[in-house]
This record gives sequence, structure tokens and C-alpha cells, in this order.
Amino acid sequence: MSFQAFVLDRVEDEPTGGIRRLDVDDLPDADTLLDVAYSSLNYKDALAVTGAGNIIRGDFPIVPGIDLVGRVVETDGDRFSVGDAVIGTGWQLGEVVWGGYTQRARVDAERLVPLPTDLTAEQAMTIGTAGLTAMLSVMALEEHGVDPAEGEVLVTGASGGAGGMAVAILRALGYTTVASTGSEDAHAYLSDLGADRIVERGAFDSGPSRPMESGRWAGAVDAVGGSTLATIIAQLQRHGSVAAFGNAGGHELHTTVLPFILRGVNLLGIDSNTCPNPRRTTAWERIASVLDPAVINRMRARTIGLSALPDAAAEVLDGAVRGRILVDVDEA
Ligand SMILES: NC(=O)c1ccc[n+]([C@@H]2O[C@H](COP(=O)([O-])OP(=O)(O)OC[C@H]3O[C@@H](n4cnc5c(N)ncnc54)[C@H](OP(=O)(O)O)[C@@H]3O)[C@@H](O)[C@H]2O)c1
Repeated sequence: MSFQAFVLDRVEDEPTGGIRRLDVDDLPDADTLLDVAYSSLNYKDALAVTGAGNIIRGDFPIVPGIDLVGRVVETDGDRFSVGDAVIGTGWQLGEVVWGGYTQRARVDAERLVPLPTDLTAEQAMTIGTAGLTAMLSVMALEEHGVDPAEGEVLVTGASGGAGGMAVAILRALGYTTVASTGSEDAHAYLSDLGADRIVERGAFDSGPSRPMESGRWAGAVDAVGGSTLATIIAQLQRHGSVAAFGNAGGHELHTTVLPFILRGVNLLGIDSNTCPNPRRTTAWERIASVLDPAVINRMRARTIGLSALPDAAAEVLDGAVRGRILVDVDEA
């Protein structure tokens, strides 16, 4: 039986995408066939779908979508059985190998983890790479001694997918959370997610005034990078840590060693794409146990079908989306 997929091709060196009908025989080889239920639209997907970023490193044509959730239809391996519900995020999905914007996918079982029993497929993709990254960031802070009693934790890019997830997770774990945003209309949304205080993005984006400013943050989760991250490093309390996962504001980092050698602060890099499966599984289980379903629903901006991907991707790149976009692969 044929199925629908959003396929990216390259015409005169420009990526161009649209819905196509495919057969299972059209799918590239991998050991597990999935009936995909949902995917999501992340910043990286927006770059891939619009062609604004050089994200696709595999051959064209390719199905983008770095996230998917679905059920196993056939498998050659022994990690999963037919009927198991699984999540795939990162591990080159939608960048090198075919990803989640499709009703059927072939994926190697080693790229998949079980869907926690407490999460629905819809909730899992509302969370997606954004939520996994947020939880990995919080786990890294915990492992470096950032405890709720130590003081405030700053989250930048807070109205975005991963930032909002970090605010909600930190709140659920008892941290006092400060959300930095450039979106004035996101204040009520961020308070609803659990931000104790909201600060303007402009307070951070011109870089620190000196190598070490007064120590304000016990920890931070940074989606922005660039001069925002440089400011955070200069404002961390003694032995504080920042988990850095994003570059929404820039990829260069100009800082000094002084906060590191005089305050013992830590810069913790987070890469959800290649995070090993045992740690991923732990992170998903923790997400399922700490995030209230009502909060997950609040973070779902909307649900779209495959044909809406190009317009929605342009909105993501314009910074016009608050929260997460769920992709229902059964909708055209
Ligand atoms: N390392 C990893 O594993 C990993 C995983 C997921 C995402 N990422 C990266 O993390 C970043 C955020 O991802 P996301 O999915 O949360 O994206 P998103 O939903 O588009 O959110 C990004 C947020 O960053 C803020 N922002 C946008 N442009 C900015 C600018 N020029 N200066 C300062 N802030 C700006 C905005 O928040 P406010 O309006 O609230 O300020 C925006 O909502 C991206 O760079 C993405 O590539 C990395």
C-alpha cells in the first residue's frame, strides 16, 4: 500500500519539497519498518525544509524531520518487537538518513528508544528533540551540583521549543527559574509554564561589560549562544554551570578564562543528536515522570499536516512561533 511523505529534492542546487506517494520499496534500507504517527518541527527542520541552512548531509531526495514516534511493523533486530511504540530523535534522522515526515519509515533499531508508557505519541512529539535537549541540559546541571537551593537558574530563548521545555522541567523539579525572552507577548505563556521571573533578552545580547560581573545565576540553560552565552558565563555564581545547546543568536563565543579559573564555573555542551541511548532513555523516562500533561499541552502551538511544513518552517525561522509545532503525518 502506498503512503504519503514530504520529500525534499534538489532542483538547480535549491532544495525543494512537497508531498509524494511512496511505496515501502522506495524506503532506504534499515532494519526496522515503522508506522509513523507524528513528527515535529524543530529549528533544524525549519532550516532543512526552507533550504536556509546547510542541514542535509545525505543524498537527495530525502525525507526530512529529525523526530518521529510510531509503532514497529517489522524488525530484523532483537531490540524491539512488532507493535512496540518507539521514539526516534536525532542520530542523523532527517539530515543524513530519511526522517519523520512520512507515514512509513525504515530506521535502524539502534536509532530508536522505547516510548515511555506514561506518554502518548502526541505528547512525545510535542516534547520531541526540544524536550529531550532541555532534559539533558537539566541533567547536566544536576550532575554539576546545581541544586534548587543554590539560587536562580536562567533560561534563554525561553519562548522557543527547547527553552520553554527547560522552564517547565526546572519548575517541576523545584528550581527558581528566570526566563529570558525577546517576545513581549510571551510573558503570560512563560509564567504559565512556571517561570518565576521574566527578563528581557536585551539584558544579555550585547555581551558582558567586564570578564566577571556579579554572580547572579546558580545555573543556566542557553538556547542562544554568541554574546548571550558570554554574558551568562561572566554572571555565573561561584561553581555555577551553564548548559549550552543552541546558537539562535550566534555561534561565536568571545569570553575569557577568568570565570573558569577564578570562580570554577562550568560550560557544559549539550548535543541531543548523538546522545547515547541509555542516557536518552533515562532522559525520556524522567520527562515522562516530571512533566504534567497539562503543561505539555500548553507548549503545543498547533498541529499541522505535511503540506503546511514550508510555511510553518518560515515562521519558525522568523521567530514567530511560541512553543512546539506537532506534525500529524496522516494529514496532507
Ligand atoms: N544541541 C542540541 O542538541 C540542540 C537541540 C535542539 C535545538 N538546538 C538549537 O537550540 C536553539 C533553539 O532551538 P529551538 O528548537 O528551541 O528553536 P525555536 O523554537 O525556534 O526557539 C529559539 C528561540 O531563541 C530566541 N531567539 C531567536 N532568535 C534570537 C536571536 N537572534 N537572539 C537571541 N534570541 C533569539 C527566541 O526566543 P525568545 O523570543 O523567547 O527570546 C526563539 O523563540 C537553536 O539554535 C537550535 O538549533 C540544539
